[in-house]
Amino acid sequence: KIRGCIFDLDGVVVDTAKYHYAAWKKLADELGFYLSIEENEKLKGVSRMESLDIILKIGGIENCSQERKRLLAEKKNMYYLEMLSDMGPSEILPGIVELIKSLKMKGCRIALGSASKSAGMILKRLGIEELFDEIVDGNDIKHAKPHPEVFQTAAKKLGISYEKCMVVEDAKAGVEAAHACGMCCIGVGSSEALSAADFHVESTAELSNIFTVLV
Ligand code: G6P
Ligand code: MG
Repeated sequence: KIRGCIFDLDGVVVDTAKYHYAAWKKLADELGFYLSIEENEKLKGVSRMESLDIILKIGGIENCSQERKRLLAEKKNMYYLEMLSDMGPSEILPGIVELIKSLKMKGCRIALGSASKSAGMILKRLGIEELFDEIVDGNDIKHAKPHPEVFQTAAKKLGISYEKCMVVEDAKAGVEAAHACGMCCIGVGSSEALSAADFHVESTAELSNIFTVLV
């Protein structure tokens, strides 16, 4: 039986994955190349600086100094935060609040496990940070996904062994991170990138169907 559930943030709890993509795309446009939605899959779950390295590689931009990289990453984050500026509770993905409440009623402990440095701020802004027993975000970890550190830290904080934790993810790197520490993973979304997940749903609204047999 599952005793703990760890939710990714972007693209699982809130519909912010589209803003991460839009902000990276705007940066790529300025650098003079097109960032496709397929290539964007590689950025999901990955840290800001690692994402930038992937972007620069896609654009064939070499010999970028550390200082320029820092400025470019800062610029992307500025675009991202601007896009978030009128985000409201309607951006919370379907069924998530109800699902977390019902999991808690059944005694399941809940954590957030995100690589984003803005994750805590976003939960607060939406007024849903109280739903989570523990929050681990990009400020708490050294290694982003596919490294399992974010999920390991979350499980330790919850006090639940890895094999009794379920991860909910929309990114390939997230599924890999869960498996790297022996956790099961539900993939959410239509992407082929999720084929390695143990369970799969198209939309967050369908997650409760899977949990009824697991918790
Ligand atoms: C998550 C998202 C990525 C994002 C990363 C870092 O993993 O899926 O798209 O790049 O967090 O987010 P940050 O807000 O710290 O730049
Ligand atoms: Mg995500």
